[in-house]
Amino acid sequence: MSSAIQIAPSVLPCDFARLGEELAALEAAGVDRIHWDIMDGQFVPNLTIGPDVVAAARKHTSLPFEAHLMVLTADAMAERWVKAGCERLIVHAEACTHLHRTLGLIRSLGANASVVINPATPASAIANVLDLVDMVLVMTVNPGFGGQAYIANMEPKIREVRKLIDASGFDIDIEVDGGISTKTIAAARAAGGNVFVAGTALFHHPGGLTTAVAELRAVAETA
Ligand code: DX5
Ligand code: ZN
Repeated sequence: MSSAIQIAPSVLPCDFARLGEELAALEAAGVDRIHWDIMDGQFVPNLTIGPDVVAAARKHTSLPFEAHLMVLTADAMAERWVKAGCERLIVHAEACTHLHRTLGLIRSLGANASVVINPATPASAIANVLDLVDMVLVMTVNPGFGGQAYIANMEPKIREVRKLIDASGFDIDIEVDGGISTKTIAAARAAGGNVFVAGTALFHHPGGLTTAVAELRAVAETA
């Protein structure tokens, strides 16, 4: 597996009253990108932030922004997320009426397009859009909340997605999101993941962000 390990913090657990400082601290701690969990209270029960908050945060870090769109109508706001400073939009296969068209729209806006599948969704759901994405996100929790337990029986699906990607010949990352910690990241890496989202494991680490990021990366690299 050649793809480089990337650590993408979910900022869901951060102190939103000090968002700019939190982003600067994440950059200093050595993360590779920022994972914004966008929830509309429809596709998932929870409700988080809109593009104006992301736009306000843009100047506080040079890290790439990715928006995990847990929303029913990704098309309607895609342009605003890109204008807010997101280089990558990640859309749920389950939420898109016309996934192929939505991914094409994201690319037409000049952003990277990625697709995400929930625990109950088979790997085959992404088989016909690999020419449109540069990353597939496999959820290892049901979306909507941080701090949930990692669903280990998603590992065979991660392997299946890796096989589909390898057979396609496209250079596509696999991101794994949900319950990632030093206890779970090795198995997720061994299954084929190379980009890892972590919220609780980073923000609640007693040793602080830098230690948490370094430990997570070290475990993934030796997996
Ligand atoms: C859940 C989100 C995840 C979550 C990760 O719907 O997509 O990104 O916030 O948080 P932890 O790492 O705490 O599971
Ligand atoms: Zn997420």
